Amino acid sequence: MDKLKIIGGNRLNGEIRISGAKNAALPILCAGLLTAGDVELSNVPRLHDVRTMLKLLAATGLKVTQDDEKVTLNGAGIDKLEAPYEMVKTMRASILVLGPLLARFGEAKVSLPGGCAIGSRPVDQHIKGLQALGAEIHIEGGYIYAKCKKLKGTRIVTDMITVTGTENLLMAATLAEGTTVLENAAREPEVTDLAHLLVAMGAKIEGIGTDRLVIHGVEELHGAKHEVISDRIEAGTFLCAVAATGGDITLTNTRTDIFDAALDKLAEMGLTIMLNGSTIRAVMTGRPKPVSFRTTEYPGFPTDMQAQFMAVDAIAHGTSSITETIFENRFMHVQELNRLGAHINIDGKTAFIRGADRLVGAPVMATDLRASASLVIAGMAAQGETIVDRIYHLDRGYDRMEVKLSQVGANIERIRE
Ligand code: EPU
Repeated sequence: MDKLKIIGGNRLNGEIRISGAKNAALPILCAGLLTAGDVELSNVPRLHDVRTMLKLLAATGLKVTQDDEKVTLNGAGIDKLEAPYEMVKTMRASILVLGPLLARFGEAKVSLPGGCAIGSRPVDQHIKGLQALGAEIHIEGGYIYAKCKKLKGTRIVTDMITVTGTENLLMAATLAEGTTVLENAAREPEVTDLAHLLVAMGAKIEGIGTDRLVIHGVEELHGAKHEVISDRIEAGTFLCAVAATGGDITLTNTRTDIFDAALDKLAEMGLTIMLNGSTIRAVMTGRPKPVSFRTTEYPGFPTDMQAQFMAVDAIAHGTSSITETIFENRFMHVQELNRLGAHINIDGKTAFIRGADRLVGAPVMATDLRASASLVIAGMAAQGETIVDRIYHLDRGYDRMEVKLSQVGANIERIRE
């Protein structure tokens, strides 16, 4: 298992190119299942999760052609309407094949994803929504078996706001008979990006970017070209890194209009942020100020940035509190940050942080994707050497993070095993 070796203390200076968004690319790749035409995608990030999704899609008979960040999909020869457990267990986003396969072919067999490190994460809302669209669904042997003649449009109100749930139902509804109204829909920019691709493929969708999506079903969708939006979480992670280490970095290939509450919180920490078209320049001098927040759905503070902010709060001048409202078990980085000398206590859904004057490097263990990013940030701010173990979590969602960070002056290297 690869590890990262970090010697802390370097300020960051220079330019980093931000990749396409993981959480936009994954549903967008699944949209290739909806048509027999070519779906030509660019700005697809080079990530382990993307490779896993392409493998899963290829196993259905979808033709995948890849040239670095360009991926072309052709769904003319799909003949296996299945997502097996071996693949789904490594990536929960595999559930996103369910809606498209069912809507286009009237049948799908997809393994139940099960729990994961950050919480139990059920998919009941995906199932409830597809049933409302007329699918017959039963669960047996850990698999979801779904069948329908033709999905029929209806009004669906999900119990909570769910990102992949909205995406699954949105994709399914594009090929349903009649009109579907998705109430309480997720408004994340990644959902919106998927909707834009679907429209380019011939789908009829109103209310894009709002919590009420109205989808008028069409007979079939055609091929399209689409550029995946920039990853706001990757960008936010590097902004946290510079807030922790100090320095002056410029992020390119970003989308400054899709940012959420995290940007304001970074400014509150003391980061000077300059937005200019698709670039973000961030300058940090001095010790960060503590910031407190609750995670919520977009455009509120994203749960996917919670761990990285906690690493900065851990060295801030003062105390702060962070409440996680989306996932029940997303504080696993706390123990590891405390190994580096942070003072963090958890009480239920809230972490209380007393900023430490300094962190000291130590061996730590990555437990999930964003927790890993938080340990990298803490390691860069700590004195001495930090070894982050189990970085396969990091590789799932960040394109060569250590390469990008060493380009701007961090002392960080991958130790291959
Ligand atoms: N939920 C249910 N039932 C459902 C669906 C969701 O109870 O049928 C609950 C979840 O357990 C959770 C909450 O609703 O407590 C919200 O979950 P959501 O469905 O929105 O999460 P997701 O779609 O599984 C996506 C991202 C996550 C991100 C969350 C929240 C992708 C592929 N994944 O997950 O990304 O944290 O939305 O914004 O888009 C990450 O990138 O590190 C990551 C975990």
